[in-house]
Amino acid sequence: MNVLVVGKGGREHSIVLELAKSEKVTNLYAAPGNGGMKEQAICVPIDEMDIDGLIAFAKEEKIDLTIVGPEDPLNEGIANRFQAEGLKVFAPTKEAALLEGSKSFAKSFMKKYDIPTAEYETFTNVEKARAYIEEKGAPIVIKADGLAAGKGVIVAETKEDAWKAVDEMLVSKTFSEAGSTIVIEEFLEGKEFSLMAFVHENQVYPMVPARDHKRAFNQDAGPNTGGMGAFSPVPDVTDEHIAFSVEHILQKTADGLMKEGRPFTGILYGGLIMTESGPKVIEFNTRFGDPETQVVLPLLQNDLVQVFLDVLDGKNPELVWEDAACLGVVLASSGYPVSYEKGIAIPHFKESENSYIVHAGTKYEGDNLVSDGGRVLLVGAKEETLDDARNNVYKVLNSTSANKDYFYRTDIGLDVSLKVTL
Ligand code: AMP
Ligand code: GLY
Repeated sequence: MNVLVVGKGGREHSIVLELAKSEKVTNLYAAPGNGGMKEQAICVPIDEMDIDGLIAFAKEEKIDLTIVGPEDPLNEGIANRFQAEGLKVFAPTKEAALLEGSKSFAKSFMKKYDIPTAEYETFTNVEKARAYIEEKGAPIVIKADGLAAGKGVIVAETKEDAWKAVDEMLVSKTFSEAGSTIVIEEFLEGKEFSLMAFVHENQVYPMVPARDHKRAFNQDAGPNTGGMGAFSPVPDVTDEHIAFSVEHILQKTADGLMKEGRPFTGILYGGLIMTESGPKVIEFNTRFGDPETQVVLPLLQNDLVQVFLDVLDGKNPELVWEDAACLGVVLASSGYPVSYEKGIAIPHFKESENSYIVHAGTKYEGDNLVSDGGRVLLVGAKEETLDDARNNVYKVLNSTSANKDYFYRTDIGLDVSLKVTL
């Protein structure tokens, strides 16, 4: 088969690494891909938003299956367009991807189908938003309705911070159209976890849970980022929590989307939080998470191509998960997520047994691998226990001398392992 992966991040490199193992794959392409994919795939310089270009390429190279990584092309209708051309694609239509593309849609959908989530109201009017904050008090959470690359969520500790966030979104239009409607919701307390599933219509096949560390610096300080590290499975997420989340969140969502005439095919990602009254939804994504994918897919023992094909055919892919633990730490450009330089040489790490490297913002300049984004790469390891995986990852990260151009968190997965050993 000829297979195409759309995207250029760590998530897509992780997908490419798995697909490259499949005997079913003759030619593997990534568009536009990144520096690390060169060994497994042919990178073609077509932007992930150039849907016409991607369709022309898929026809020309007789692509049998296309996997779409990022959310932006999904919301532009890449799946609709591929399907209209008779091209097989594992991705939700834009109607189904609205679950990620519009937080107000996701919230009203959850209310309608009785899916556990924070209480909320939607606003376009500043005075009404302020009055709601006055009534509810802080802490409170302000969210831009549309896609904002993970930056459109403000957890306000005080009413003043909440008002400021409302002003930025509704008056200053910091997020332009994405922030012209906002959701204000109840602050939930608990540990977060990500539960992804392969979904086709009403069929839901969950993966192992993961936990992402979203803040830039140690001990969850600093700004929110796309994710600075992750691990899987998550010791404090029990089988009961997973069973509840699959039944009351993921399955209800798949069923509800069918009832709404928006049947879902692709990866449904529940960003969940374990509250005193059970797991609740913080957000939905309609694609693989990044960096969760980099620690979840290495645990999948099936042929990933076969999984996509089975799910698309309405067959149970019979997922098998390795009884092991993966942990990954992101190496980021200094200054990320605010501002940072690109084009800087990538440090060389001495890899060890069971460690792996997944590239994100890297590219080749001639023969030199240089940085090309905020999150540059992820060093991961798969071991019997999370502690071993973490020790292995940090051994690899420490194998290079200190470098002012890059930084990484030194506490990924630490809270959990401390808990486990206590
Ligand atoms: P999101 O982009 O919706 O995942 O939000 C980013 C982060 O903000 C989440 O991972 C949470 O840590 C935090 N957050 C979002 N919504 C809430 C909420 N209702 N209560 C507490 N924290 C939240
Ligand atoms: N790691 C969170 C996300 O992919 O949105």
